Amino acid sequence: MEKYYITTPIYYPSANFHIGHCYCTIVSDAIARYKRMKGFDVFFQTGTDEHGQKIQKKAEECGKTPKEYVDEIVADAQDLWKTLNISYDNFIRTTDEDHIECVQKIFKKLYDQGDIYKGEYKGLYCTPCESFWTESQLVDGKCPDCGRDVYEVSEEAYFFKLSKYQDRLVKYYEEHPDFIEPISRKNEMLNNFIKPGLEDLCVSRTSFDWGIPVTFDDKHVVYVWLDALTNYISSLGYLSEDDSNFKKYWPADLHIVGKEIVRFHTIIWPIILMALDIDIPKKVFGHGWLIVNGGKISKSLGNYKDPREYIESYGVDAVRYFALREVPFGSDGNFSEEALISRINGDLANILGNLVQRTISMGHKYFDGKIENKGFEDEISKNFIESIDNLESIVEEKMDKLEISSALEEIFNVLRASNKYIDDTTPWILAKDESLSDQLQTVLYNLIESIRVCANLLKPYLPTTSENILKQINSNDERLSFVNNNKYELNQPEILFKRIDVK
Ligand code: MSP
Repeated sequence: MEKYYITTPIYYPSANFHIGHCYCTIVSDAIARYKRMKGFDVFFQTGTDEHGQKIQKKAEECGKTPKEYVDEIVADAQDLWKTLNISYDNFIRTTDEDHIECVQKIFKKLYDQGDIYKGEYKGLYCTPCESFWTESQLVDGKCPDCGRDVYEVSEEAYFFKLSKYQDRLVKYYEEHPDFIEPISRKNEMLNNFIKPGLEDLCVSRTSFDWGIPVTFDDKHVVYVWLDALTNYISSLGYLSEDDSNFKKYWPADLHIVGKEIVRFHTIIWPIILMALDIDIPKKVFGHGWLIVNGGKISKSLGNYKDPREYIESYGVDAVRYFALREVPFGSDGNFSEEALISRINGDLANILGNLVQRTISMGHKYFDGKIENKGFEDEISKNFIESIDNLESIVEEKMDKLEISSALEEIFNVLRASNKYIDDTTPWILAKDESLSDQLQTVLYNLIESIRVCANLLKPYLPTTSENILKQINSNDERLSFVNNNKYELNQPEILFKRIDVK
């Protein structure tokens, strides 16, 4: 079985999880589920990035120890992922003992081989982003990533020799044109960060202590990004007694990351791996942000709602569908409740829900729910069946390019064509003539087959709805193409998605 290792970023448990965090996780989940459906041995990992100055500060503000503080938020994150049906195989916490040990071993190894050395750091630091900056990188004197104040840091520190690996990194980009996607993000890395020259990276801090101690110099804690990036291999047992998962799943097939952290994943991370002499991930995909009213989502801007509120109001699959369908993967997209409702009414209720409801109701009305193929053929049906049969390969082509929204669009095109097939074949007229009974039954059979194939293809995206549809048509046939000889005994139809009254 071919393996597939996919990761989301590990989240800072420092703020409330919002719909933007869900976005990335839902997309990764859909890809993981899709690959499983295609027979891959998938390892899908998410988790939490729990160290650093930012978390220490937040914990202090709440009068808690950092560990007490993160434990609560991590439990909340796991609850949210469960509500969203996120099918991760592993949830890593950077406070896990085996992760800590792995980071310490890596730090020591890089130090012993001369890639980490001790020096003095003088420069600027952005605590919310846990990022070091130089004066020239600032925008209007502020952090170029988040626009907040930076402050001067001057402390003894360990440095990692990024500069030594610059040429090798550029060569790697050239030889692996698919490593960074979308392509615009690769150009940004080359032009903004690599061409001006990589500086050695400060990889330890002494001014706070909520981090992984450097084993041979314990007033230092490991820089949070070196700690965090290591999660992708520590979870697989790298440098531990049992590294069988590392041997099996590494290199990662896909790291999904937001656009602002592409730089960590495509510059620092590959260089760490080069220094460790292990393979580099096959692909890093930098997606865009979900924004609200043109801006970032945050409690202080007043545009924040707990994602569970949307799920309670509209259902988990409506939220998943919106995240997957609304925004082409890679671009920024606006999130609003109106847009969510419009997707529910337009696609989920009108196209999908209506088709299933109409078809099953006719099945009961005309044949007591017992439907089989009576072999009737005409041009309209032939074309319709052909479109069902072509769907699997079209979806595969889109998913291989991570064009998730287009993959869903294609499935919905067939659902739309199914509604049109009803309008074109007019079952209610066929039903008036007893001699057309076989034709009528075949039309309904073709429709149910279309629903069955689409429900199976929708599983990675809308797992609960797919299951519900397959239950309604009473089928456990997972084949992804039109089958001639199924026999259906339909259950009663149930409403899949209620139309939402915008008022
Ligand atoms: N802890 C680091 C990642 C370390 S990975 C080795 C981090 N955490 S984060 O919680 O700030 O962000 C996690 C992910 O959520 C990032 O990929 C970020 O881009 C994504 N998002 C945060 N807000 C978002 C939106 N509004 N929209 C889409 N994704 C967003 O960065």
